[in-house]
Amino acid sequence: MQIERILQSQGFGSRKQCRALIRAGLVSIEGRIIDNPFEDVAPAGLQFTVDGEAWTYREKAYLMLHKPAGYECSRQPQVHRPVFALLPRQLADRDVQCVGRLDQDTTGLLLLSDDGQFIHVWSSGKKRIPKVYEVTIKHPVDDALVAQLLAGVELHDEPAPIAAAACVQTGERSLRLTVTEGKYHQVKRMVAAAGNRVEGLHRSRIGGLSLPDDLAPGEWRWLNETELALLAELEAR
Ligand code: URA
Repeated sequence: MQIERILQSQGFGSRKQCRALIRAGLVSIEGRIIDNPFEDVAPAGLQFTVDGEAWTYREKAYLMLHKPAGYECSRQPQVHRPVFALLPRQLADRDVQCVGRLDQDTTGLLLLSDDGQFIHVWSSGKKRIPKVYEVTIKHPVDDALVAQLLAGVELHDEPAPIAAAACVQTGERSLRLTVTEGKYHQVKRMVAAAGNRVEGLHRSRIGGLSLPDDLAPGEWRWLNETELALLAELEAR
């Protein structure tokens, strides 16, 4: 594959912009400056440097972000900054999208990708992938609240009650709630329907994937091979 096309596929701009980067001597592979934009290079596993920054070729991008509060999962945010502002420009430019949305005030694990099929499968809720939320609520938890969330609550516009897949009390005013649907404001609406109110929401897990302790709010990283295999396993169910 021509090096200028590789750069373009990785989000380094239009073909013309990538060609200019190469002609300016800013692109190197294993320490060798590549100044011919048409040089044929095998993309698989390719490591290259653009203006001193090291990159690895990835046909598709799969990443996780520790979403902080105050960011919107939208390309056209209404009030707050977009989560894409937390990513390197190359990733935003290669059209990475959120896999499902978290509210602006929700924190925690967010997956992003530019693989349309992956985004569709993981956002749709059809696979009933469990998502675990740490929920802080206004009024103290009691057994009746947990029982109600497990039995199912009526949500406006939903034909049947929606039940939590799991719900455990984690503190006087906190719960760990697992849902499998991915409906709009689902956790907040479920808790409200059960007569309480969400004051803080943090997603700690999606399927077998937990938010790593060493990923600080606002930080992102690529999903590794083990994590991708874990997701593929669930996707194949
Ligand atoms: N449920 C909500 O209410 N909000 C989120 O951000 C995620 C799940």
